[in-house]
Amino acid sequence: MAGLGDEITMEALEADPDAILARLRREEPVCRVAALDMWLVTRWDDVAHVEEHPELFTAATEPSFLARTLGPNMLTMDPPAQTRLREIMLPPFQAGGRSGEFVAAELPRLADSLIDGLPNGSFDLMAAYAQPLSAGSLATVLGLDDHGFDKMWSWCEGLCTDLANFADDPELAAVGERTKADLGAALAARLEQGADDDSAISWFTRHGATAEEVVNNVRLMISGGINEPRDGIGLVVWVLLTRPDLRAEIEAEPNLLRRLVEEVFRIYSPVGTVTRQATEDVELGGVVIPAGDLVAGVLRSVNLDESHWHDPTAIDLHRREGSHAAFALGAHRCLGEWLGRQEVRIGVERLLAAKPDLVLDPDHSLEIHGFEFRGPRELWVVA
Ligand code: HEM
Repeated sequence: MAGLGDEITMEALEADPDAILARLRREEPVCRVAALDMWLVTRWDDVAHVEEHPELFTAATEPSFLARTLGPNMLTMDPPAQTRLREIMLPPFQAGGRSGEFVAAELPRLADSLIDGLPNGSFDLMAAYAQPLSAGSLATVLGLDDHGFDKMWSWCEGLCTDLANFADDPELAAVGERTKADLGAALAARLEQGADDDSAISWFTRHGATAEEVVNNVRLMISGGINEPRDGIGLVVWVLLTRPDLRAEIEAEPNLLRRLVEEVFRIYSPVGTVTRQATEDVELGGVVIPAGDLVAGVLRSVNLDESHWHDPTAIDLHRREGSHAAFALGAHRCLGEWLGRQEVRIGVERLLAAKPDLVLDPDHSLEIHGFEFRGPRELWVVA
């Protein structure tokens, strides 16, 4: 008998996942979706269980697009191999490391220089501001800023094209190969320079990462660490331009901008899912997932789970329900979350301080698209 899992299509999830996910939470919270050939897990407690039990739900999936495209990296491994890489690579992304210095001194300057270059009249804020700010931040922290922020963005796009090449299209695969060759040459040159500067890449080398580990994990950081802060900047600006009540509240109490950043990450969850694979037949939410099946813990669903959040779709700057799951919940919790949050907060703060009269362009409406990665492609504003 055909069930809910047979009705769901990828197109419908990409266009508007929230109603489908709400129905799954109510009717079939652990559901095999035929079109995706995987299980969607949509309630908070079940996704937390998946993330807390790598022995039952491994990140080392087989096959793995991530490992095939980027090479084995921390997100394709379970503890303890993953823990070792994480311990080496986390410090430069925290407040006490390279990211802390960058956020205090260089990030505001980078934002201001991009704001100085913004055109008058109507323009797409994602392309003109959010994207170079996000690419430039990661390039600077990693120590790849000599190549220019456009180059960083093109590496990100090339790797993401390859990662999304589920149908094995040879043209898309060629884009991936060209990107990896170009980025590989830049990384080889970087590694040859030695490791005595303050960049994150030098830190990784000094703390025991091999050249291959640096290359594969920097590919992961570039493919996953630029789109999300970019989307966060665009979405927070959009919320502030459409919600004068929230803007007034934040102007009266500027610290509340941090709360808004969290609420926007919770409600819009730029990273839709975490993908794992059952290592044995596992019971979850009253059904048995057979060994070998792929399981997606749906972060955007648990961030709107009515059994976990009061009035989940409302932006509430005074929530007391604890942290959301947009940066994931378990061993693979986002490595760049501290840096990403600061990029969004400072990026928005500097922009609206310099351009207080910025408004949405009434000739364009915001379109948010995607399931695995969801965000606005463009945000048209008038300065
Ligand atoms: C600010 C917006 C960001 C969001 C919403 C986000 C979200 C996530 C999520 C949900 C995961 C878990 C994926 C999984 O378990 O399958 C993750 C992991 C990861 N993120 Fe982020 N991310 C963001 C920014 C960044 C930045 C700026 C970097 C730069 C280094 C980064 C690097 C990573 C890495 C390396 C992992 C893998 C961690 C591991 O496997 O232990 N992310 N991120």
